[in-house]
Amino acid sequence: MSRKKVTVVGGGFVGSTLAQRIVDFELADVVLTDILEGPPQGKALDMMQAAKITGTSAYIRGISTANGDYSATAGSDVVVITAGFPRKPGMSRDDLLKANYEVVKSVVEQIVKHSPDCIIVVVTNPLDAMTQAAWKVSGFPKQRVLGMAGVLDAARMSAFVAMEYGVSVENVQAFVLGGHGDEMVPIPRYTTIAGIPLPELLPKEKIDAIVERTRKGGAEIVNLLKMGSAYYAPSAAAMAMVEAILQDKKKILPCAAYLEGEYGIHGLFVGVLVKLGAKGAEEIIQIKLLPEEHAALQKSAAAVRELVTVLGL
Ligand code: LAC
Repeated sequence: MSRKKVTVVGGGFVGSTLAQRIVDFELADVVLTDILEGPPQGKALDMMQAAKITGTSAYIRGISTANGDYSATAGSDVVVITAGFPRKPGMSRDDLLKANYEVVKSVVEQIVKHSPDCIIVVVTNPLDAMTQAAWKVSGFPKQRVLGMAGVLDAARMSAFVAMEYGVSVENVQAFVLGGHGDEMVPIPRYTTIAGIPLPELLPKEKIDAIVERTRKGGAEIVNLLKMGSAYYAPSAAAMAMVEAILQDKKKILPCAAYLEGEYGIHGLFVGVLVKLGAKGAEEIIQIKLLPEEHAALQKSAAAVRELVTVLGL
């Protein structure tokens, strides 16, 4: 059996950290691409040279796609798209809309030519709209296009719960639905510490603060870093999705998936619980929501719809 192949498009902090995680974990061989000439090759070579020390047999190769040549990505099982402009302080994810649409469009056109059977995982912001763009441009069935965000948002919420309650984050299972934007919908009722729902363990004002901090989790880091946005947690989240797909885990993770009536939402990528396996989004899990949770999800979806409409998707 030959090793799996993953292409990571975009050799910035998220892309290169994701590539490193995949190689270190020996999950697949990696092709790391960037529009720049030199940095993707240099980062990949550096990681290749670390392999002896970290003990991985996976291969990584860096290529520049400045000349439009994506042939080295051919036959990828999964392609993760991280390319795009990052947020700057004070900038919303939506400000990135049009610039990153052009990036995603040109990347996807090339990717599908060389890897017609791949599964695409989109990380570029604004996440849900870029995932919809990738799906439209690819012409792929909906199962094979997913967006990374719920895993990240739920991991952030988990960290805040663990820090607040003074408990191992491994005991925390957080639950976030909706778009990866300010209107995302963390649901404390379905968030647990060792299986115990959060409202049983923390007072309302603490929970409200956790919800608010989760919604602004990305912006908090953008403001601290001053240059660029978060990458350790985003790359870890993308890695979890790639792993679930390549290893056919059938793992339920929150991801942006194409909805056709689920939760009353039609024709739109929004964050929901998805069973991830070798075929991609193998099932969308629908759960009962309270009226206010349902309303919050509709509001979040409406924010995504606005962007998608601007792009004419
Ligand atoms: C974040 C930005 C990148 O959530 O969306 O970190």
